[in-house]
Amino acid sequence: MAMNMQSTLFIVGTGPGDPDLLTLKAFNTLSHCPVVVAPKGSTGGCSTALSIIEKVVDTSGKQVLEMYFPMKKVRLGEKPHPEVEAAWTDTALKVIELLEAGNDVAFPTLGDPAIYSTGYYLYDTILTLRPDVKVKFISGISAMSSCSASTMTPVCLGDDMLAVIPATFSEERIRKALTEFDAVVLMKVHKVMDRICRILKETGLTAHAVYVEKAGMHDERIINDLSVTPENPHYFSTIIVRKRGTGPSAEIH
Ligand SMILES: C[S@@+](CC[C@H](N)C(=O)[O-])C[C@H]1O[C@@H](n2cnc3c(N)ncnc32)[C@H](O)[C@@H]1O
Repeated sequence: MAMNMQSTLFIVGTGPGDPDLLTLKAFNTLSHCPVVVAPKGSTGGCSTALSIIEKVVDTSGKQVLEMYFPMKKVRLGEKPHPEVEAAWTDTALKVIELLEAGNDVAFPTLGDPAIYSTGYYLYDTILTLRPDVKVKFISGISAMSSCSASTMTPVCLGDDMLAVIPATFSEERIRKALTEFDAVVLMKVHKVMDRICRILKETGLTAHAVYVEKAGMHDERIINDLSVTPENPHYFSTIIVRKRGTGPSAEIH
């Protein structure tokens, strides 16, 4: 029979990149945990979440592991790609081993774990393997909140209806969201910028969209004119589309 699990896995939102946007709770949790298991999107690369926390959290005395999470589409209700499933299981087994050895483990994840984060896939996989594992989520500042602050564009106000979707969805789903919602946050836009700029143009929404790259960071880039596709978009790029304006000249809702 498995031993009683005393240690805790903390799934910690790191905020969108600016280390000042790591919450105090995230900082304290990361500082407390002797082990950090961080996700990375390529076998050779480094973990983005780890690089964010390392700017403020001293990891020198900690055991730090970077685990590969392939960036492949996951459709809820469908079995994930075998490579993805294998990566989740590998990480889950490693985390369970570390917890069983008596370590509290931190799993940092970009932005907020609530939004398109690997944190919940890890959580679900761990619970299938060891349902008695103690897990705590520490919320983080989401990329869309930071993009909103940088551009002084509200994400939604009054009776606005908001959709948050990856720009990699099918054209049909993106058009549907743009038609049905008052505000749409398009994430993961970097690989599909041409297509998104074209759709915005065809739906008459170019003037209502703003592109934000590396929100809150020293090399942040904000582009209001999306009639021309931005060059070399970075992975940290989001577009906010808001049909209704704000300020004294806007319609009051
Ligand atoms: C896998 S999602 C993670 C979202 C994250 N969990 C959150 O709460 O925002 C990655 C996407 O977040 C967005 N993103 C993350 N950091 C950003 C930043 N500093 N500026 C703009 N967009 C960012 C980009 O759209 C990127 O492709």
